[in-house]
Amino acid sequence: MNAPPTIRAVPSNKWDELLPYMERLLRSSGTGGTPHFSASRDRDVYDKAFNDRLRTQLALPLERRGWIRLWVATDGNEVLGHVDLRASDRLADAHRVLLGLGIDKKHRGRGLGKLLTQYAIDWARENNFAWVDLAVFTQNTVAVELYKKLGFVQTGFYVDRFRFEGTSIDEFTMSLDLRQTP
Ligand SMILES: CC(C)(COP(=O)(O)OP(=O)(O)OC[C@H]1O[C@@H](n2cnc3c(N)ncnc32)[C@H](O)[C@@H]1OP(=O)(O)O)[C@@H](O)C(=O)NCCC(=O)NCCS
Repeated sequence: MNAPPTIRAVPSNKWDELLPYMERLLRSSGTGGTPHFSASRDRDVYDKAFNDRLRTQLALPLERRGWIRLWVATDGNEVLGHVDLRASDRLADAHRVLLGLGIDKKHRGRGLGKLLTQYAIDWARENNFAWVDLAVFTQNTVAVELYKKLGFVQTGFYVDRFRFEGTSIDEFTMSLDLRQTP
């Protein structure tokens, strides 16, 4: 159970295997002691158009805008968590990548979030990107602290960014400058 996990890239043709994990993760947002962390909590993870686009994005080379790269930490066949990096559709911010992160509820608090985030940071640095950006809800204190520990600094603050059943959520944007020496 606590053996070091394997981290592996998820290619386009393996995306669908992650859907049950993704559904579990999204549905945990704002329930059972987990703070809200995603605006997509109620998204249909099996939506065909969404998944067709995502598979296309996973297959895009880094030279094309809109690419996504995704890695999972696994223990045998079990997906423990994931991290993803994505490019925007614009050429003018091709030096930046946007990070997403999630750990399956029963595997949180054992260092996997930190491990996967550091893995993505190292990949972005090796591939000569200048910045890693992310957005995080302000009350998701575990995530905010994790990102700070890895060197991210707050760059923005959205008041009342989302509302879930009448609860207003603020959001930080944070960035890591990869042009500094590690
Ligand atoms: C936020 C999340 C990714 C953290 O992943 P994790 O694997 O549980 O975190 P780690 O075990 O790697 O811990 C990283 C740091 O978080 C903090 N942390 C972890 N669990 C904590 C807890 N229960 N209480 C307080 N701080 C905690 C610690 O600062 C820890 O650093 P340390 O190892 O130096 O003590 C995970 O809780 C998660 O998936 N949450 C739901 C999805 C989510 O919020 N994604 C991020 C959206 S921006």
